[in-house]
Amino acid sequence: MLRTSLLAAARSPLARKLVERSPLTKPVVNRFVAGAETADAVEATRALRDSGRAVTIDYLGEDTTEVSDATHTVKAYVELLSALSEQGLAAGADVSVKLSAVGQALPGDGHKIALDNARLIADAAAGVGATLTLDMEDHTTTDSTLDILSELRADFPWVGAVLQAYLYRTEGDARDLAVAGSRVRLCKGAYREPESVAYQDKAEVDRNYVRVMRILMEGDGYPMIASHDPRIIAIAGDLGAGRDFEYQMLYGIRPQEQETIARRGDTMRVYVPYGVQWYGYFMRRLAERPANLAFFLRAMATR
Ligand code: FDA
Repeated sequence: MLRTSLLAAARSPLARKLVERSPLTKPVVNRFVAGAETADAVEATRALRDSGRAVTIDYLGEDTTEVSDATHTVKAYVELLSALSEQGLAAGADVSVKLSAVGQALPGDGHKIALDNARLIADAAAGVGATLTLDMEDHTTTDSTLDILSELRADFPWVGAVLQAYLYRTEGDARDLAVAGSRVRLCKGAYREPESVAYQDKAEVDRNYVRVMRILMEGDGYPMIASHDPRIIAIAGDLGAGRDFEYQMLYGIRPQEQETIARRGDTMRVYVPYGVQWYGYFMRRLAERPANLAFFLRAMATR
């Protein structure tokens, strides 16, 4: 119920205005977002690297309705990749891109614009030794995103995809993607989805997560296990013993556990969001965990 309301607020312009304009929001947002500028993302990357963690960086933005915004997002990624390279931080870094931020939702040519824009980012990543992962958004975009993935992989086989355990279709998608060279991030799924396409019950999502993880671990691709859930992390350790895979977590969430995993020699990649358009991302984090919301309200009450 609370999750549903927060996810509805994530799409509400009025709620957006209220939350964005409150001066009280900023300190809480700072826990989950690295900053507004390229330099902030670079500094967060340096700090994470110094503690043995890898990164995937997201220039915040989604649901772009103007071609110029999509172009701006591409420029931001190209600038970021070049800044990482200048600082010697690009090799092994990954960038995460939401196709809706590079034009997927534009009427008419959206799919093609997003493909062309994602190609520009992949090209820039290739030039500095970084990789690209296509984030997965709501279920109406899944087919288009997987099509764009397969077009990009023809030229850039290291472009990765995300699968969401809450979707019924994901088991089949995982079988298709569990092939040599294929980088697949598995997450539970962060959007509000109808019963016609997605499990609603948390326990069912978790069970499907483990089913899909088994397919990925037994396949020939490179699984990226994105979760903060201790049970999922323990099962990944068992299923993935002796094979190459990585763990992923979000910036600001369970940072000590991130360091523990990195220290024991496993790859821990942190998803680092930056930029001014933090609203949708922030609201999805609040929806995931009542404790995050409590933290937010407490910070507001004490200021
Ligand atoms: P869940 O939220 O069910 O939490 C399970 C348990 O984890 C909790 O009970 C608690 O024990 C622990 N936990 C969680 N948060 C904690 C906290 N703040 N402090 C302490 N313990 C905590 N989604 C999507 O739809 N498309 C995408 O492209 C991506 N990309 C993505 C990348 C990466 C790197 C991550 C980690 C996540 C995503 N997601 C995503 C988000 C994902 O779908 C999901 O919404 C969140 O990861 C939350 O799910 P968890 O698996 O963490 O478990």
